[in-house]
Amino acid sequence: MKNTTLLPYLTAMGIDVFAPRQSTAATTAIIPPTLNWERLQQQAATCQRCSLHQTRTQTVFGVGNRQAALMIIGEAPGFYEDQQGMPFVGRAGQLLTAMLQAIGLAREDVYIANILKCRPPNNRDPLPEEVQSCTPFLEQQITLIQPKLLLAVGRIAAHYLLKQKSSLETLRGKIHYFSKSHTPLIVTFHPAYLLRNPQDKKKALIDLQFVHDTLQPIH
Ligand code: URA
Repeated sequence: MKNTTLLPYLTAMGIDVFAPRQSTAATTAIIPPTLNWERLQQQAATCQRCSLHQTRTQTVFGVGNRQAALMIIGEAPGFYEDQQGMPFVGRAGQLLTAMLQAIGLAREDVYIANILKCRPPNNRDPLPEEVQSCTPFLEQQITLIQPKLLLAVGRIAAHYLLKQKSSLETLRGKIHYFSKSHTPLIVTFHPAYLLRNPQDKKKALIDLQFVHDTLQPIH
């Protein structure tokens, strides 16, 4: 007989039963990928689904470890990212790198991508139609990587991935799930916000520690 079947009887008999605790480790549903990396990257590079292709220097596909346990999702490329074709290479990127180092991770350990692959003019917020056209690329990346945990940095990424518009403060400090892949997801501040509001860096470090602790049991 299984222990679970016996449990009510043992409990009724006043016998203490010690069972292994359920792991709190994040779990990820597996979605079969439909495109391979090369085809996906090529499609993104030549994409003309929205008007941002007219103003971009190049697309910023994403960078890092394609087997990463942690995938970081930002908003959209800025000036330097558009020039270099890599996400988070400007000042905000340097802060993101330092935040990762604080929990013992190098950029090469994680995968970094954005909601949008092209820079919006003057770094304005992405428009809903741009998000709608572009996010199939991101969703394919998530499917291919199957990360154990997503870290949404900033309001735009969090709101898209969670399909809700709560304040960042409300969203921080909890494990959410990206519904399309059931991937666990944590929210923190965007590093560009932290550059403007350095008093919140301590809170961001608490979030990063939460990321670290959540990843621990599942490495
Ligand atoms: N901000 C983002 O959200 N992404 C980048 O790649 C750079 C700045």
